[in-house]
Amino acid sequence: MNRYDLDGRVAIITGGAGGIGKAIAQRMLQSGAIVELWDLDKASLTKAANDLAVGDTKPGIRIVDVTDQHSVESSTETCARERGRIDILVNNAGVLGEVKPIHETDPANFRRVIDINLTGTYLVTRSILRVMLAQGDQPNRGRIVNISSIQGKEGMPMAAAYAASKAAVMALTKVVAKETAKNGIVVTAVTPAAALTAMAAEMSPQRRDDIRSRIPAGRFVEVDEIANLVTWLSTDDCSFSTGGIFDISGGRATY
Ligand SMILES: NC(=O)c1ccc[n+]([C@@H]2O[C@H](COP(=O)([O-])OP(=O)(O)OC[C@H]3O[C@@H](n4cnc5c(N)ncnc54)[C@H](O)[C@@H]3O)[C@@H](O)[C@H]2O)c1
Repeated sequence: MNRYDLDGRVAIITGGAGGIGKAIAQRMLQSGAIVELWDLDKASLTKAANDLAVGDTKPGIRIVDVTDQHSVESSTETCARERGRIDILVNNAGVLGEVKPIHETDPANFRRVIDINLTGTYLVTRSILRVMLAQGDQPNRGRIVNISSIQGKEGMPMAAAYAASKAAVMALTKVVAKETAKNGIVVTAVTPAAALTAMAAEMSPQRRDDIRSRIPAGRFVEVDEIANLVTWLSTDDCSFSTGGIFDISGGRATY
């Protein structure tokens, strides 16, 4: 396994107690980063941090609801004060929501999915970017990686809110990238195919089989494969790809 160089970088991973977030945290810790997991509840955060502990080294944890502006801003302020800086943000918190044809869906579900997946990404980016922009002390000073989805590119029957939210996350990525391109901040997104995390467990076996059959590689993506890509995107080696949308869909993507 290659060791990426993230020595001393401070990284925040939202949704860090979940399957993909934990895998990203592990890879970043192995690469020398100081990692904070942000998620909704203490029990799952504590478990994730203990699972990821190597000797005395383990990620920090913070209870943050990404849809709550006050929670996001006060957490950003405390994190920046305690750690001295913030170098990397991974906007990973997300939910799938209802799996139904659009005419049967509940508008409250649609709003909730957009609120977490899109507005949450906006609120955390807005808050942490202010810290990054104030850190004018080195050429490559900020990395933001947004976890979108192949469903945002391709559309997917019975996932209107999810697919729309993830398409919007790609547009948001490009906007923030253009706004910060001269500031040494690199903003990218990844579009994974399905991985077998808690999110996949919310689907019926038939739905999972249908999704797998759409992946030319014939299998689900491993969370470690996503973590490798996200970690590389967070290094100084990824220096001229701002606004890039990085595919990790086993050949499913058609653009
Ligand atoms: N699993 C897949 O097939 C897949 C594929 C493509 C993209 N993704 C994306 O990857 C990301 C991680 O998903 P996962 O598969 O690890 O799912 P997961 O359910 O294991 O993890 C998601 C985490 O987000 C947290 N979260 C939800 N709402 C939150 C909020 N308001 N504030 C803070 N945290 C919140 C949850 O508590 C959970 O720990 C999501 O954005 C998801 O859309 C997943």
